[in-house]
Amino acid sequence: MQIDLTTRREIGVFDSGVGGFTVLRELRTLLPHARLRYLADTAYAPYGSRTPEEIRARSFAITEHLIAQGARLIVIACNTATAHAIDALRQQWPAVPFVGTEPGIKPAVAASANGRIGLLATPATARSARLHALIERHAAGHEVTVQGCAGVVDHIEAGDLGSPELQALVARHCAPLLEAGVDTALLGCTHFPLIEPLWREALGPAVTLLRIETAVARRAADLWPPLPTDAARLAVETSGDAHALKAWMAEVLGWTDVEVQAWRPESANGLQGQTV
Ligand code: DGL
Repeated sequence: MQIDLTTRREIGVFDSGVGGFTVLRELRTLLPHARLRYLADTAYAPYGSRTPEEIRARSFAITEHLIAQGARLIVIACNTATAHAIDALRQQWPAVPFVGTEPGIKPAVAASANGRIGLLATPATARSARLHALIERHAAGHEVTVQGCAGVVDHIEAGDLGSPELQALVARHCAPLLEAGVDTALLGCTHFPLIEPLWREALGPAVTLLRIETAVARRAADLWPPLPTDAARLAVETSGDAHALKAWMAEVLGWTDVEVQAWRPESANGLQGQTV
C-alpha cells in the first residue's frame, strides 16, 4: 500500500493486554520518531481461552478504531489474534499493511540439532489451523511439540511475574517438551517473554529458547520509512482499567511518563473515559 503522508499517520499496535508491549518496546527503539498507538484489549483478555469468532470480532473492532485514529500500518502484537484473524483483516482492509506475530518456526528448525522443537503458545493458538499449516510448511521432518499454556497469561496480566504458583504452572507446561527431548523451544505468545527467566529455569540450560518480537518490530520498521513530519508520540489505550494498566507499565516496564486512556467503543467518540 501507499503510505498516507499526512502528519497524523500512526502505527497501530494491539494485543489482548500487556503482551504486545514486548513488541512495542522494540518498535520504540527501532522507530524513535514514529507516532505509535497501542491498544490493550484488557477487558477481553485472555484471548487464548476465547473462540475464533470472538477473537476475530475483537480484532475487527480494534482495527477499525486504530484506522479511524490514523493508523496506516497495523501491528498485531499477538500470536492468538494473528492465528485467527489476520487473513480476515487483510481481506477487509486490503489497502492497509498488517504485520502479524507468529512463532519463528524457520529459525527454530535452523537452531535445532536433534530435530525436536517445542512451542509454547496460548490454547487458542495451539489449536489454530494457521499454526499447524506453518509447522507443516517449515518443519517437515521435524518433531514439533505444541503446548497450549492455559492460565499463564492471567498471571502476567495481574502483574505476577514470578510467584511460586506461576513457577509451578510454567513447569507443568514445560514437562511435555522435556519428555519429548526438545533442544529448542519457541515462545509463541507475546506475553511469555515477560517471564523468560521462568521458562529458562523450567526448561534447563540444554534447551535454546527463541523469541520473535524483535523480528516482528523489524518487519514493521521496514514498512515505515521515516518522514520529516513524524513526531514521536505514544498513546496507550485499554478496554479495561486505565489506572491498573498505568501501574503495570510503571512497575514492569518502568514507563512512568506514558498516559493511558480508557477506550469505550460504545461511547460517542469511542474515546471517552478516564485518562491517567
Ligand atoms: N499475547 C497474546 C499472544 O501472543 C494473547 C495472549 C492471550 O490473551 O491469551 O498470543
